[in-house]
Amino acid sequence: MDMTKVQARSGKHNLADLEAMREGFDWEEVKKDFSWYKTGKVNAAYEAIDRHAENPDKKNQVALLYSAPEREESVTFEQLSKQSNQTANIFKKYGIQKGDRVFLFMPRSPEFYANFFGILKVGAIAGPLFEAFMEQAVRDRLEDSEATMLITTPELLGRVPVDELPHLQQIVLVGAEELPEDDYIDFDTEIKEASDEFDIEWVDREDGMLIHYTSGSTGKPKGVYHVHNAMIQHYATGKWVIDFKEDDVYWCTADPGWVTGTSYGIFAPWLNGVTNVIRGGRFTPESWYETLDKFNVTIWYTAPTALRKFVSAGDELVKQYDLSSLRHVLSVGEPLNPEVITWALRVFDLRIHDTWWMTETGAMLIVNLPSMEIRPGSMGRPIPGVEAAIVDNEGNELPPNQMGNLAIKKGWPSMMRAIWKNPGKYESYFINGWYVSGDSAYMDEDGYFWFQGRLDDVINTSGERVGPFEVESKLIEHEAVAEAGVIGKPDPERGEIIKAFITLNPGYEASDSLLEEIRQFVKTGLSAHAAPREIEIKDSIPKTRSGKIMRRLLKSWELGLPTGDTSTLEE
Ligand code: WTA
Repeated sequence: MDMTKVQARSGKHNLADLEAMREGFDWEEVKKDFSWYKTGKVNAAYEAIDRHAENPDKKNQVALLYSAPEREESVTFEQLSKQSNQTANIFKKYGIQKGDRVFLFMPRSPEFYANFFGILKVGAIAGPLFEAFMEQAVRDRLEDSEATMLITTPELLGRVPVDELPHLQQIVLVGAEELPEDDYIDFDTEIKEASDEFDIEWVDREDGMLIHYTSGSTGKPKGVYHVHNAMIQHYATGKWVIDFKEDDVYWCTADPGWVTGTSYGIFAPWLNGVTNVIRGGRFTPESWYETLDKFNVTIWYTAPTALRKFVSAGDELVKQYDLSSLRHVLSVGEPLNPEVITWALRVFDLRIHDTWWMTETGAMLIVNLPSMEIRPGSMGRPIPGVEAAIVDNEGNELPPNQMGNLAIKKGWPSMMRAIWKNPGKYESYFINGWYVSGDSAYMDEDGYFWFQGRLDDVINTSGERVGPFEVESKLIEHEAVAEAGVIGKPDPERGEIIKAFITLNPGYEASDSLLEEIRQFVKTGLSAHAAPREIEIKDSIPKTRSGKIMRRLLKSWELGLPTGDTSTLEE
């Protein structure tokens, strides 16, 4: 098989031709598919849910197909519309107003989605958090966003430092057997009493909808702020790239704490009116195959880290399931290994379509459309209406095959509109009219983009973006640790693993048990995915004269590479 190019197949897809779409492309045309184009009344919750609930042909279609080990449930568009009216009524009753931040810290469940749309319906801004976050991670995000309401469960409440968050006025508890104190709002009681009718708060397309916290190489996680206007691109990429047709059963495996779990786990499928599978519980290759089989999933959007585990699980396992409904598979989050594409052609007879984008970009930008020839190892080409290029550090475009900064011409519909309370940080993304991604890449003569790596110190472990600063800060809170430097170390299964270099305070002796204790300290204080898999004790951590940790040098040492310019190294 020639693995340098995999041709498009007819039959299974809407083979929208990319070149024809690009011809005279205008986002105005896409806008005509939204009801606000005619009514002037905007709210993404209306477009995604209520619009279908008002349509006699669609209202009884299953919107959400929920499956967890202990619970299974189908929710129609009409039911989800009513449930989110109820949650909106609860929020309104407790004084939530347009622009307020309401955070969600709870497992994926039907209640999560009813709450999510209720937040949008009152015009507030939703902030979904990973269920795996521990106290420090929760605190940083609630503090920075100045969230006034948090929706959580009794199990997770212990990780919320309630007394240290002055802005947090209300906590809604979902699934509480009994309330710990009477200043909590009991979701289960309130929802029974709440009306399922609600006057949705119409907003401006530039009003806030969502904040996702994500990591950079320096400082605490940043709040990436998205507005309702992003729905235009969620909808369009859903149609073109995910190839939604009305009768599709779609499964996006991402958690809504991650942007993929909102843009493509919530907006894209429901704006396109398809049935959306939401799966709770842990990942195993068996349980995921079972989900694909049981629900006759037709479209599957997942990540290389999971796909690599399927490859390791072997060809025999997949034969035990009937996956004949599956017609389209997509991937995001990390480089998609060509071997995984070969594997999928062998076991599913399907191509895997890589997509590239970021929390900051809000939606897909560089993709493989079903109609395109795939070049394994390449992320594909920009969607219509988006201009991508490789630029130098001054924002000048570079010719094909030259490595540089992957950049996007500013102004696509789903672009972040701010870094929460940090205009300087926001501005720093843009050079000479380009959004500069922080990824290095090159473009070939045919306009395909090839990912090379991150240009900053951001770590991508199993598809999760981790900032080294956050991990270093937690490490030095441990009494034994004096200094810490954290890097991503290449790993065949996880992409990268987190490796920490530390120096010990006087009086502490290196031992396996101490290292394990430090690892656990990060795991239980911050989150499991941020805990270093490897910790190495050093006599000193290399720093610049201005005191910045030289992670690049640590990485070169680790990988046995030349150390490059060390002129700024402290004596
Ligand atoms: C990386 C994810 C290679 C990249 C939606 C980017 C990828 C970062 C790909 C954003 C891909 C994402 N190939 N690398 N197809 N997709 N990345 O914000 O380094 O969690 O900058 O958003 O993931 O990660 P984030």
